[in-house]
Amino acid sequence: MSVTISSVEHARKLARRRLPPAVFHYIEGGKENERTVRANELAFGRVLFDPHLGEAIKRAETKVKVLGREIAMPVVIAPTGFIRIVHKDAEPGAARAAHAAGIPIAISHLSGAPARDICAQNDDTWFQIYMINGREGVKASIELARAAGCRVLVLTIDLSAITPFDRISRALPSKADLANAIAFLPEVWDRPGWLLALLAGGLTMNCPNAPPSPDGGAMAVGDVGKLLTATPPTWDDVAWIRKQWDGPLLIKGVMRVADARRALECGADGISVSNHGGKVIDGVPAAVSVLPEIAEAVADKIDVLLDGGVRRGADVVRACALGAKAVLIGRPYLWGLAAGGEAGVASVLRLFQRGVAATLSAIGCPSIQALDRSFLRPLPDRTIWNDAPTVTRFD
Ligand SMILES: Cc1cc2nc3c(=O)[nH]c(=O)nc-3n(C[C@H](O)[C@H](O)[C@H](O)COP(=O)(O)O)c2cc1C
Repeated sequence: MSVTISSVEHARKLARRRLPPAVFHYIEGGKENERTVRANELAFGRVLFDPHLGEAIKRAETKVKVLGREIAMPVVIAPTGFIRIVHKDAEPGAARAAHAAGIPIAISHLSGAPARDICAQNDDTWFQIYMINGREGVKASIELARAAGCRVLVLTIDLSAITPFDRISRALPSKADLANAIAFLPEVWDRPGWLLALLAGGLTMNCPNAPPSPDGGAMAVGDVGKLLTATPPTWDDVAWIRKQWDGPLLIKGVMRVADARRALECGADGISVSNHGGKVIDGVPAAVSVLPEIAEAVADKIDVLLDGGVRRGADVVRACALGAKAVLIGRPYLWGLAAGGEAGVASVLRLFQRGVAATLSAIGCPSIQALDRSFLRPLPDRTIWNDAPTVTRFD
């Protein structure tokens, strides 16, 4: 599918037009009043550049080494669950687009395509796990990740309950049967493109990378939710998981210096400073506002990544100047996927690549490695960073 996307906001607008409202809100929505979702984005605008003049940078170097491998720019596709409902290209399409852009993709424990099929598209595939079904479930998932050829294990530790979002008035269907099709009809009758693409991808909506269901088959979307939050991981579990996996281990969802230190003590190779894109708790600070203190504490020992609110190449450069090795992007790639499948993701990634290079040149910095705080103005205080409007209506 050919698609022209001029900005991440443009991709969002196309996604809004193409997706049924329930699916669009599933992507964009966050917890309660979505202050944290807004804060994640707005905080980047409060990090001001301080360009170095007279440097005449012709072609800035965007490559960077993350968790032991060089990648084309400091951007990784974030793990996002249930995306088969966004576009039939789903994870394999996004993995191909990421590969073409020279970057990794992290796939969700709740992804809809088998991990080995995704790894076949991108040899830098990261596998994200939740603590589904306790240590037994984790063991099975790690074996699956290893057999599929995933390079990095991502353990998400910040999800302990799944509660409804204010803006989502009806749950997404957990399986494609007649009853769900009828219930969902008012949402989709005027979006035939989305419906045809969904049907072309087949009717199953399982989670083939989650631990097997009790009958030994793939876990259905509806079952996973129940098991997911039964046993959120403790630091003992993190240390145990470290022993089960030889490759790089990234802990996702760290928002405090003390927890970053715990992750380090448990043997993690990296952390992602993250509030789950504002989807878990409303009222925690913007991820980028806690990045400087966490990077100061541990970035000399482990790779510090960041996710939440990154919307353009300039935001990537801001995060790296504040001490991040790289960022993960969630909603921007999903909007691209909704707008044009694999080609839409490729388009969004090109925008990021150009944006990172152009921003480096504009601030007189020759490479990502050379970025530091001298390219930024002094930071505002935390209350200003997190001053975001409360969203009370979801039109
Ligand atoms: C639709 C959607 C589904 C998500 N599913 C997962 C998931 O399965 N596992 C996980 O660790 N994070 C999940 N996340 C969180 C993302 O990995 C990431 O932390 C967040 O999207 C970053 O914020 P951004 O969307 O502003 O870039 C999800 C996010 C979205 C938007």
